[in-house]
Amino acid sequence: MEHSLDRRRFILSTSLAAGATLFRAPVAARAQWPMPPREVPGTFKGRIAPSIEPGAQLIITGKVFEADCHTLAAGVTVYSYHTDANGFYRFDHYMPDWQSRRPRLEGTVRTGADGMYEFQTIRPAPYPEHNNPAHVHFVLWWPDGHRQGDIAYFVGDPLLGPSQFRQNASTLNFSSIQHVITDGNMQRLHLDFHKHEQED
Ligand SMILES: [Fe+2]
Repeated sequence: MEHSLDRRRFILSTSLAAGATLFRAPVAARAQWPMPPREVPGTFKGRIAPSIEPGAQLIITGKVFEADCHTLAAGVTVYSYHTDANGFYRFDHYMPDWQSRRPRLEGTVRTGADGMYEFQTIRPAPYPEHNNPAHVHFVLWWPDGHRQGDIAYFVGDPLLGPSQFRQNASTLNFSSIQHVITDGNMQRLHLDFHKHEQED
């Protein structure tokens, strides 16, 4: 889940905050996983950013498959979060830790029998340090308890580098680096997921 990058950014933002306030120690929190939602969403379609959020409108769609990349996966909870149009997860600029700090732009849906999910949101910006390409995080929970993290990057992002291309072991619709199709005022990104062999 790209924890090392998030962790570095957390340390940086915490250190800056500590410098400004003098009493907040620059303690790096261990990267946390979000918990699955208490109430399972009843629909495959949801929002990450509210409709008034500044930024280019983006619709993310895809299908969730079982490990064979062929069988559609129903009842999978798909949670997604990303930065805002300024590259921040929160107004206070901290990284999310899901203990007391949730990302501001987040959403959860649940796949139906056709395995589909859809999020309406805005296109995120890279972190302000420009040390990482713009991206969208996903956490998926299968009905059997399996959990995994995934990520989407955007083709053409000048910040894409060897680590993202190395990370991108899958191809076509499963690739973590996806083309954005512009459709009027809307941008569209399609990304499919398949169940990983191990939780990660
Ligand atoms: Fe991130």
